[in-house]
Amino acid sequence: MASSAHPAAPRIWLTGASYGIGRSLAVELANCGARLALTARSEDKLQELATEIEAVGVEVLVLPGDVTDRESMQRVADAMRDAWGGIDVLIANAGTHVPTRVEAFDVDEYMDLMRLNYGGVLNCIEAVLPRMLEDGAGHIVGVSSLAGYRGVPGAAAYGATKSALIHFLESMRFDLAGSGVDVTIVNPGFVRTPLTDRNDFDMPFLVEPDRAARIIRRGIERRRREVSFPFPFNWFIKFLRVIPMPLYMLIMGMTWKRMKRD
Ligand SMILES: NC(=O)c1ccc[n+]([C@@H]2O[C@H](COP(=O)([O-])OP(=O)(O)OC[C@H]3O[C@@H](n4cnc5c(N)ncnc54)[C@H](OP(=O)(O)O)[C@@H]3O)[C@@H](O)[C@H]2O)c1
Repeated sequence: MASSAHPAAPRIWLTGASYGIGRSLAVELANCGARLALTARSEDKLQELATEIEAVGVEVLVLPGDVTDRESMQRVADAMRDAWGGIDVLIANAGTHVPTRVEAFDVDEYMDLMRLNYGGVLNCIEAVLPRMLEDGAGHIVGVSSLAGYRGVPGAAAYGATKSALIHFLESMRFDLAGSGVDVTIVNPGFVRTPLTDRNDFDMPFLVEPDRAARIIRRGIERRRREVSFPFPFNWFIKFLRVIPMPLYMLIMGMTWKRMKRD
């Protein structure tokens, strides 16, 4: 990415930009000279962020919308193309977490989560992919989670949405081979944001959002297939992914006992 704004600065559409990882990532990308279109539902927060970013001297578009609204995402992508002639990178980051409680099982809530964390990414991909394929260039970045690799306590619904996303993007990468469109899957561990502030357990290897943003920005610049962090937690999760089920149940059970606050 260029170090200052200029006509060749990458045109990046970032969803979930109003707070959390998305906000820090917007600032990080702006500091590296990207042109940014910011999407989330809270227009006031996006405007505030845009004012902060414009001070760095980069171009910003505030394009509020709900990622679960398919037509609205088409309109956002159209508005971005009208303003800048195209979209180089989609960073589909918008998402949330709701704990799964077996004693209060709620299918509506879990399906809503799927519509946001998985369907929301698909809506944004649909809005950019045809033009990227026509142009023979583009980069699709989906923010999933290390929780998408194996079942973890209290995150059945969330993990399912993130597993679906990892699976989808991994498969799509094969289908896009040779098209000029790259795919990056971002898998954070625990990052300190309004989302994790709600967690009632101790989070191992908790990362500050600015650091997460730097890691994600570097991974996107290098067009890495996967950006999973932090390093020790990533390797722990990847290890858990390949061990047999009884051993997994034992290790995860013991880890969860240590994480839970009494
Ligand atoms: N924090 C972590 O530890 C962690 C770990 C692994 C993965 N992740 C993933 O990283 C992404 C960002 O997480 P975060 O921790 O930054 O979450 P967060 O603090 O809750 O921020 C979520 C962002 O998504 C936006 N958003 C939520 N629903 C939306 C909707 N329907 N349409 C458009 N935007 C919507 C929110 O803005 P509005 O409310 O203004 O719409 C906000 O900007 C999520 O996909 C999350 O699953 C986070």
